[in-house]
Amino acid sequence: MKDLFYRIQQNKGPLGKWAKHAEGYFVFPKLDGPIGNRMKFNGKEVITWSINDYLGLANHPEIRKVDAEAALEYGSAYPMGARMMSGHTEVHEQLELELAQFVEKESAYLLNFGYQGILSTIDSLVSKDDVIVYDVDAHACIIDGVRLHHGKRYTYQHNDIESLEKNLIRATKIATQTGGGILVISEGVFGMRGEQGKLKEISNLKSKYNFRFLVDDAHGFGTLGKNGSGAGNEQGVQDKIDVYFATFAKSMASTGAFVAADKEIIDFLKYNMRSQMFAKSLQMVLVKGALKRLDMLRSRPEFKNNLWKNVNALQNGLKNSGFDIGSTKSCVTPVYLKGSIPEAMVLVKDLRENYSIFCSIVVYPVIPKGLILLRLIPTASHTLEDVSITLEAFSNIREKLEKGIYKRLSQAISSSA
Ligand SMILES: Cc1ncc(COP(=O)(O)O)c(C=O)c1O
Repeated sequence: MKDLFYRIQQNKGPLGKWAKHAEGYFVFPKLDGPIGNRMKFNGKEVITWSINDYLGLANHPEIRKVDAEAALEYGSAYPMGARMMSGHTEVHEQLELELAQFVEKESAYLLNFGYQGILSTIDSLVSKDDVIVYDVDAHACIIDGVRLHHGKRYTYQHNDIESLEKNLIRATKIATQTGGGILVISEGVFGMRGEQGKLKEISNLKSKYNFRFLVDDAHGFGTLGKNGSGAGNEQGVQDKIDVYFATFAKSMASTGAFVAADKEIIDFLKYNMRSQMFAKSLQMVLVKGALKRLDMLRSRPEFKNNLWKNVNALQNGLKNSGFDIGSTKSCVTPVYLKGSIPEAMVLVKDLRENYSIFCSIVVYPVIPKGLILLRLIPTASHTLEDVSITLEAFSNIREKLEKGIYKRLSQAISSSA
């Protein structure tokens, strides 16, 4: 028998093994200063392309004022306890009502965190007789929700409707035997590569197969659809989505989330969702702050317009310069380059130190070996000057990558990994 920690001591995991070279710089970096298009990294101003503050609300003076006033009035503890027990208020209900109306559903329920919230939504929606069919590229919180499921689950190839149909046929056979139902799960926007989930095509399959549809619209809420009401609205199929989820952690620039559906389903979730029944209610500061943010989202189209002006400038600029940005149909802007993890590290360091560009890198195992993904998140607070500086920097680093400069510089890292 081995000591429990033996495995951990031997193998730090696919990302953890790079910690010696990466920590504090590529991972766990410390960005200082007010949240915005320019922040400080290691004491130097950088253009920040790695923050999901899509609408630029995080540091908006009206929002900061509401947040501060709510903190003064309620502190950060109120209300204490879970919603069901002692953590329920009229303001929570008000926010739920407004969110439900905004996303065109009968009812909504607040979640204290997005991750646990959707995990627990999945857990509550299915029993062991049910079958889950979900996109293979789903976010970790969906995967973890599926992990709790005691029945069958199938993945379909990313955004591949043929593969989804094959799995719906398998799922239908199983559900017919067990007497259960089928839950299909997609994201509204896939956060790594920026593709929209094929919500329309998936919804159309409802005429052939009997399933319920759950959409995680973390990146679509606030950025797509009428006034930012999400990817379902953008694709004209919001009414075909049975359970709609979005987080406050992106466009709303806050913490918390919500799930929206028919009243019957939300009433069920209120009494059965373990992450909310056995955990503290969303704090009043966040609820008051979310009401203000939602109001700005609905009534001030300039934030979304500015966001898309910057998205279009950045994505068109990259495409015109010959960069591969995949098939993004959202604000998430991936730039694919060919190279190893050590090369990616040297390249990103060059971007930060010599071009003052701060963006996230994504490498294997999140994407296939040999690819480097630089992930840029344009926001409403960026400027066209930020875009043109970035485009020039990207052309320069691509040239260095192609000339093998980063490969040479990365040899020390490769040999010690
Ligand atoms: C698709 C998706 N779902 C859910 C979450 C979790 O949201 P939260 O940060 O509110 O826990 C995220 C956050 O990264 C996400 O990208």
